[in-house]
Amino acid sequence: MMRINYIELPKFFKEFIKIPDNIETMVPKIKDTGNFISVPLKTFVTETGLAWFKEHDVFLHPTPFLFDMPPNITSVPHIDSNYDPTKLVAINFVLRGYGEVQWVDVEGDKEYFIFPDSDTGSPSVYTTFKNIKNVTVTDVWTGDAAVIHIQDPHRIVTKEARRILLTMRPKITSPNRTMNDFARILESLPRW
Ligand SMILES: [Fe+2]
Repeated sequence: MMRINYIELPKFFKEFIKIPDNIETMVPKIKDTGNFISVPLKTFVTETGLAWFKEHDVFLHPTPFLFDMPPNITSVPHIDSNYDPTKLVAINFVLRGYGEVQWVDVEGDKEYFIFPDSDTGSPSVYTTFKNIKNVTVTDVWTGDAAVIHIQDPHRIVTKEARRILLTMRPKITSPNRTMNDFARILESLPRW
């Protein structure tokens, strides 16, 4: 069966998100290819939003990430935290610009980066690729609010716009709590 790589979020989710006035300067510039910081959930999600997630048993880690990427970037394919079973999907909101997520088949050598998880402190693994010989795009998301799968190789393409993205990682509360689970929550909502 084909894996679902992303599920667009209903429009009302955007009302759950607050964008601070200093959003353009929140992420320090270190690398030319883009940077990220962890941010407090409550700075970006309204009380109503927090209540909605709680009511639907979506447990959000308290420190989502804010990514800031310049225009005209195609990132190296990567896999996020693939040994953390509580972080299988991301809830993504594009706050400035736009930016595709492309899922790819990639021929190359895997390279592993181990870092402490910002929520638990336990080791987390970020996998990227080097000596890439071939990349084939298998799926693309171009929206601005979606739940996306982060356990298969994917990359970001910003094209002509700077992209600022809030990415929240819902905790997976049982082994079978997957994208399909999230799809079921969304399907159960009144038509939006
Ligand atoms: Fe990612």
